[in-house]
Amino acid sequence: MRSAKDFFTPLAVGAPPPITEVPARPSRMIHFFDPSNEKMAAKVPDLVGTVDVLLGNLEDAVKADRKEAARLGLVAIAKATDFGEHTQLWTRVNSLDSPWVLDDLTTLVSEIGDRLDVIMVPKVQGAEDIHYVDRLLAQLEARAGLTRPILVHAILETARGMASVEEIAGASPRMQGISLGPADLAADRRMKTTRVGGGHPGYLVRQDPIGGDIHGERTTYQQDLWHYTIARMVDACAMHGIFPYYGPFGDIKDVVACEDQFRNAFLLGCVGAWSLHPVQIDIAKRVFSPSAEDVAHARRVKEAMGDGTGAVMLDGKMEDDASLKQCLVILELADRLAA
Ligand code: GLV
Ligand code: MG
Repeated sequence: MRSAKDFFTPLAVGAPPPITEVPARPSRMIHFFDPSNEKMAAKVPDLVGTVDVLLGNLEDAVKADRKEAARLGLVAIAKATDFGEHTQLWTRVNSLDSPWVLDDLTTLVSEIGDRLDVIMVPKVQGAEDIHYVDRLLAQLEARAGLTRPILVHAILETARGMASVEEIAGASPRMQGISLGPADLAADRRMKTTRVGGGHPGYLVRQDPIGGDIHGERTTYQQDLWHYTIARMVDACAMHGIFPYYGPFGDIKDVVACEDQFRNAFLLGCVGAWSLHPVQIDIAKRVFSPSAEDVAHARRVKEAMGDGTGAVMLDGKMEDDASLKQCLVILELADRLAA
């Protein structure tokens, strides 16, 4: 199998050094704003320090005749704002089959490349899309004299992208992570939903009737529409040492369902989700940070396991090398978030 290194060739002159490891910075919520919307843009400085990631969105939800305003708005905001140590600046550029993406990339890298941490690329179909962006970024970074490589994040939102998720995850050392794009993916798969992410009241399992009476009462449970997709994305990301994210939850008022969807994703391995409205910031912060009880339990297991091998009984449950490894995942996340 070809490795990502075969594709990533930093330009010799003035290019940033190659990436050896994706930085594990907190990114529990990727908070979207529309840089062409003056009211929204004015709120950006207030969010610095309270959100892990601020993302200037140039793609869907920005009208075609506002694309340039959004791009230039993002340049102005990035130049005027000090994002500090705790908030990263990301952008979502237009898709690679759009007339806007080339200007997005050339303008943003030359104007604010030193401030952008990650570029999110929508509707990625395969590794070739990432190779293209990787090469173009290397050229633009060298021309701009940047010393730090900009990372790349792919949105998984087509059936073809889904089928290529492993090779997308490993396509370049620039790959920072992958988000699920449930709205576009649902359309591309011809799912019969009309929502932006989350579950559906019709996607159920129904319990057998009690006592075999077919007219008897039956309980129904809503299933997670995104279980297979998230699990597959998580495996691809884990295999390549990059980070998986649940994407948008469009029903802003339904904070309960939003929290449920985010929590399912967290338990399956995701490190964050998009927030489309300030109410979703706190939900993501709560869900994607390990609970105090989980951290306390993980510490107890670590202590009880001594040198990390063998088995011990704690509260009537068997703990061993493998349960310790799970606890170390929780502790490592807690340490990173506390740093
Ligand atoms: C996000 O871009 C989505 O399509 O869900
Ligand atoms: Mg989309």
